[in-house]
Formats: sequence, structure tokens, C-alpha cells
Amino acid sequence: MAASFTSLVFIFSLLASQLFVYQATAEDAPLVNGLSWNFHKSTCPKLESIVRNQLKKVYKKDIGQAAGILRLHFHDCFVQGCDASVLLEGSASGPSEQDTPPNLTLRPEAFKIIEDLRQRIHKICGRTVSCADITTLATRDAIFFSGGPDYAVPLGRRDGLNFATRNETLANLPGPSSTADALLRSLGNKTFDATEVVALSGAHTIGRSHCNSFTRRLYPNQDPTLEQNFANNLKAICPELNTNTTTFLDFRTPNTFDNKYYIDLINRQGLFTSDQDLFTDSRTSGIVRSFAENQSLFFEKFVQSMIKMSQLKVLTGNQGEIRAKCSVRNTDNASFFKSVVEEVVEDVSVF
Ligand SMILES: *[C@@H]1O[C@H](CO)[C@@H](O)[C@H](O)[C@H]1NC(C)=O
Ligand SMILES: *[C@@H]1O[C@H](CO)[C@@H](O)[C@H](O)[C@H]1NC(C)=O
Ligand SMILES: *[C@@H]1O[C@H](CO)[C@@H](O)[C@H](O)[C@H]1NC(C)=O
Ligand SMILES: *[C@@H]1O[C@H](CO)[C@@H](O)[C@H](O)[C@H]1NC(C)=O
Ligand SMILES: *[C@@H]1O[C@H](CO)[C@@H](O)[C@H](O)[C@H]1NC(C)=O
Ligand SMILES: *[C@@H]1O[C@H](CO)[C@@H](O)[C@H](O)[C@H]1NC(C)=O
Repeated sequence: MAASFTSLVFIFSLLASQLFVYQATAEDAPLVNGLSWNFHKSTCPKLESIVRNQLKKVYKKDIGQAAGILRLHFHDCFVQGCDASVLLEGSASGPSEQDTPPNLTLRPEAFKIIEDLRQRIHKICGRTVSCADITTLATRDAIFFSGGPDYAVPLGRRDGLNFATRNETLANLPGPSSTADALLRSLGNKTFDATEVVALSGAHTIGRSHCNSFTRRLYPNQDPTLEQNFANNLKAICPELNTNTTTFLDFRTPNTFDNKYYIDLINRQGLFTSDQDLFTDSRTSGIVRSFAENQSLFFEKFVQSMIKMSQLKVLTGNQGEIRAKCSVRNTDNASFFKSVVEEVVEDVSVF
């Protein structure tokens, strides 16, 4: 897309001057037992550069892919923990997370990007890095290449063996029409406080949404919290309920990871009810304002919240497994190991 390319040039010129690198410390982001900041240091020393170099190419072609990876990580962690269960394709044992309605935000390209990284990494390091760790690292780099903070992530996750049920998936992913109250309760159950809920919602600074996630705010009656010009633009993009079109989540800077999303909310130009209501609800409006006024503060709280989220119910040590293919449990395809070595991975220009 031409538009994404233009903003990408802009982003890379920002990166050249390295706006912001946030180094989380153990104090503000305590680690779960079994995870560490340098888990793969001896078994896969090039891990982080393999991921970063490959994603640099991917995002140079289409920065729009960054939001897809970020969303994948959220869906993975909120449902059954960060165990790469979201990457499992449905099987005879039952439908997977991918078959449940909130999957609409999951882009097929995102799954491909993770599996491609997995191939490159396993080719160089052997089967030492889980799909859950790869998704976490790819998410960090998606944020970085979009102009957001750079930060260290704890590693050492293992891949899960359990498929999440449809009900579990629905119950753990609050929808776009959720109120702030519902968000606070749903994420509060996962021990996130109001500041963390508002910070994580800031992920909507990049990405797109289908009309059906917000047209109930337009038809039949317009949500009074929608600013009129913004509402008119949305009506032009989505002329009726559930039009099959997409639009940007943060129309000010759609592909740049910054704090403009909070400026949108203050101007009543948040796309989802779950966005706008953060500014309506008195428990969160002050936090929205503080992030709109201070991007460093947003980055700091976002990084802390992401590190916390990336450790939700993780499997470590001998739990779970390290998948030989991200979409399939090892037990479901025992013959796969033999073929891994022969896989052709083109263009491994990391070294
Ligand atoms: C999303 O879930 C629906 C069923 O709810 C399924 O038909 C569709 O194929 C799924 N999409 C993806 C990308 O997995
Ligand atoms: C899933 O949720 C629906 C609606 O709440 C309920 O009727 C159904 O029994 C649940 N299924 C399982 C397997 O728990
Ligand atoms: C979250 O909800 C589950 C299921 O309803 C409950 O068992 C658990 O105690 C809750 N956790 C917190 C921290 O509220
Ligand atoms: C929505 O639009 C896309 C791209 O134009 C198309 O591939 C897809 O089949 C459409 N889906 C529906 C449900 O009409
Ligand atoms: C913005 O937030 C950062 C990070 O918390 C803090 O160090 C800085 O003092 C804040 N700036 C202002 C103007 O409040
Ligand atoms: C198992 O993996 C091999 C190698 O990739 C593949 O060709 C085959 O289709 C897989 N089988 C199943 C049942 O997924």
C-alpha cells in the first residue's frame, strides 16, 4: 500500500535518531519463575538478530503487518496464557482459538510471519526456541519498527498442548463494544489495574478494524460520544451496518506507534466503544489525559504492561513442548521432525 510506504519512510527516519529506548528493570517488571532476560543466550545467541533482521524486511514491505503480530500476541496471552495455543490449527480434537469469532482481527499473514521466523531460527539453532517466545519477540519488534519503544523481553516460554475452547476464547477476549467497566473487570481478573488497562488499550495506536466492530455506534442511532465530523467520515467508509470495509484504529497516525490514540479519545474520535469509554469513565479518563500529555509516560507503562502480559500463565521448564511447527502439536505429527532439517529457508542473510 502506498500510504503505508510513505509513513514507513517517515518511521525509518525517526528510527535513525533513536527516539526512545526503554530498558525495563527487574523491579518494574518482575519475572515469573523459569523465565529470564537471556534464556537463549548460549543455545541460540543470534535469536534476537534473526528476528529483528527478518522483520525489518517484512515491515519495510508492509508496516501494516505489525498490528497483526501485536494482536496475535494479545489473543495468545489472554486466552489460556502465552503458550502459542492461538497458533494451533483446529484439529480432530476440536476447534482452536482460530475458529472462534474474535479471530477476525487475526490476519493470516501474521501466522505465516511467525512460522517463517520459526523455520529460520530452528534451522540455525535447532528446536530450542518455542513459538510462544518467537511471537513475544516478534511483537516487541513490531512495536519497535512502528516507532514505539524498544525493550527487553523475558524468554523461556514453552508451547502449550491444550487447545483453548470456544467458550474460553470468547470469555477472555473483551469485544470492541465493551464498556470501560467491562474491560476493567475482564483485565482486572488477570490482575491488570486501571493504568495497565489504559496502557494496553494504547496498542490501538496501530492497526485497522472492520466496520462491523463499530457500526453499532453509527446505526440506527449515533452514539452521542462520537464527534460529528469523525462520525460522518466513518459513515462514508461504512454506509451501513456491517459493511465489509476496514478503517484505521488511530486515524491521526495510523501506522505509527505513538500516543496520538489518546489524543483521539480526548477529541471523542475513538473508534470502538471500548476505546472511547476509557475517556468517559472517571476511573480511567485521568490516565488517558496523562498519556495524551506525556508519550514517555505512556511508553513506560505500556512496556511494563506488555512484559506483565507476556508472562500470563506461561509454561516453563519441562512443561508443554517446543513445537517443530507452530500450527501443529508435535504429537499430532510425529513424522515432522525428520523433515525439519531438509526444509529450505531462502535468504538467511543474518550473519
Ligand atoms: C474465524 O472463525 C470462523 C468461525 O467463527 C471461521 O469460519 C473462520 O474460518 C475463522 N477465520 C480464521 C482466519 O481462522
Ligand atoms: C459454552 O457457552 C454456552 C453459552 O454460554 C453454553 O450454552 C455451552 O454449554 C458452553 N459450552 C461448553 C462446552 O462449556
Ligand atoms: C478470575 O476469574 C476466575 C473464573 O471466574 C476466578 O476463578 C479467579 O479467581 C479470578 N481471578 C481474579 C484475580 O479475580
Ligand atoms: C470482504 O471483502 C474482501 C476483500 O474485498 C473479500 O475477499 C471477502 O470475501 C469479503 N467478505 C465478505 C463476507 O463479503
Ligand atoms: C513524562 O513521563 C516521564 C516518564 O514517567 C517522566 O520521567 C517525565 O518527568 C514526565 N514529563 C512530564 C513533563 O511530566
Ligand atoms: C506432517 O508434517 C509433514 C512435513 O511437513 C507434512 O507433509 C504432513 O502433511 C504433516 N501431516 C499432518 C497430519 O499434519
